[in-house]
Amino acid sequence: MKISNIEFPDKPLFLAPMEDVTDPAFRLLCKRFGADMVYTEFISADALIRSVKRTEQKLTIYDEERPVAIQLYGREADAMAEAARIAAEAKPEFIDLNFGCPVKKVAGKGAGAGLLHDIPKMLEITSAVVNAVKLPVTVKTRLGWDEDSKVIMELAEQLQDCGIAALAIHGRTRSQMYRGDADWSLIGEVKNNSRMIIPIIGNGDVTTPERAAECFERYGVDAVMVGRASIGRPWIFAEMKQYFETGISASFFTFEEQKGIIKEHILASIDWLDERRGIIHSRRHLALTPVFKGIPNFKETRIAMLRADNLIDLFQLIDSVNEPEVRI
Ligand SMILES: Cc1cc2nc3c(=O)[nH]c(=O)nc-3n(C[C@H](O)[C@H](O)[C@H](O)COP(=O)(O)O)c2cc1C
Repeated sequence: MKISNIEFPDKPLFLAPMEDVTDPAFRLLCKRFGADMVYTEFISADALIRSVKRTEQKLTIYDEERPVAIQLYGREADAMAEAARIAAEAKPEFIDLNFGCPVKKVAGKGAGAGLLHDIPKMLEITSAVVNAVKLPVTVKTRLGWDEDSKVIMELAEQLQDCGIAALAIHGRTRSQMYRGDADWSLIGEVKNNSRMIIPIIGNGDVTTPERAAECFERYGVDAVMVGRASIGRPWIFAEMKQYFETGISASFFTFEEQKGIIKEHILASIDWLDERRGIIHSRRHLALTPVFKGIPNFKETRIAMLRADNLIDLFQLIDSVNEPEVRI
């Protein structure tokens, strides 16, 4: 499978863009464990144009994580085109446009999934960005605004006509936010539309190797994008790839190795930010990792881990946890 001139292996797995999660430290880890493409978190076009320092930092890319897409959001074509030109200077493989973010501060202002309410504007932005940069432009969006306006079939063709190189579809509407199950049948219909030529990337609720394999087989997508299931578990890509090759769905790393990866990620986050912010940033991963799920009498350690504010204490706590004989 190819997106523009970038070649991907069979059954490619993409790390979904996630705000405050997919920073370089996490992207590099996911890449190491087999993610075939990574995305930055979404980046505000307006903030980029205003040269907000923290926003500019989000453009940092390392060669080891390539191919990488820089994702932008905004609600005006001129601003998005200008931001894309700025982002292109960071030399990503792709510029990705976010037309899927459902949160109020974004969609409520007419950006992200808010553009599912104004398709002409979405198409205007897409064309403007495609014309503004030499890089291939991709789009990530949802099925539609709500249950009564699942426009993705027609929208996919319209976006393709604007010249995008690939389309990622999260199988929910904006109204659903993250509720309910992702509906992959419509993603499959878009993929099977004979007028669609560009690669279709399916996204939503892929949490196991079996489900990832099913998404390829049943819906025929060109790539599967994994989001939340990778938080605190960047090795999920390796587990999925192992399953594709061998049909074996065993855990890829031992308990101790998994703890080691968690610690490595904390160190990388500290390196990227600083000790205090790196530890705070790691808490989401610590809270969600399956490594510490279901360990009997773990509550106190868990609370202490999520409160630890220095590296020595945090590592001591992690080191003190032994593999449970049973999980509850
Ligand atoms: C914490 C978090 C942050 C997210 N930030 C973004 C983002 O910046 N850009 C985007 O396109 N989607 C974002 N998403 C949506 C994910 O990319 C993905 O579409 C969604 O989580 C569904 O996939 P999943 O079921 O594999 O998690 C975010 C999701 C989460 C949970």
